[in-house]
Amino acid sequence: MTNHEICRHLRELAQLDYDAVRAYRQAVEQVDLADIRDQLALFENDHSQHIQNLSQIIILLGGNAPEMKPDIDGVLLEGLTAMRSVTGTRGALGVMESSEKLTNKRYFEATQLHLPADIKAQIALNFRDEQRHLQYVQQKVAEKVWQMR
Ligand SMILES: [Fe+2]
Repeated sequence: MTNHEICRHLRELAQLDYDAVRAYRQAVEQVDLADIRDQLALFENDHSQHIQNLSQIIILLGGNAPEMKPDIDGVLLEGLTAMRSVTGTRGALGVMESSEKLTNKRYFEATQLHLPADIKAQIALNFRDEQRHLQYVQQKVAEKVWQMR
């Protein structure tokens, strides 16, 4: 794979992370349970870190760091649109569950690419965060935390 192609894959992942940041910001506003809100804010931060570590690799490869513009329709747009119409913890967790399923799928696919070992290692680390996010959100949905007040 050429550096150009690697950069294209990494930019796609970074865009996905950017969409996830936006989705988490909206979700946090909808969640009325402080411990869950705090956890979602940490996940949002993980996604910001991913954007940074992917951008660093892109720049090292001679590519342009991705431009993150809020007006660009991202791959999670469907999730973001859904987020506008949901209210409360239950709705927010439902949207984050589907968003995290998508980020997990895309990160898993990225781990299968033939990439240099150091880049592969970074993607594996980011993917581990994604697995943790999905596991947490699915657990809270299964517990029906919105019923615990
Ligand atoms: Fe995530």
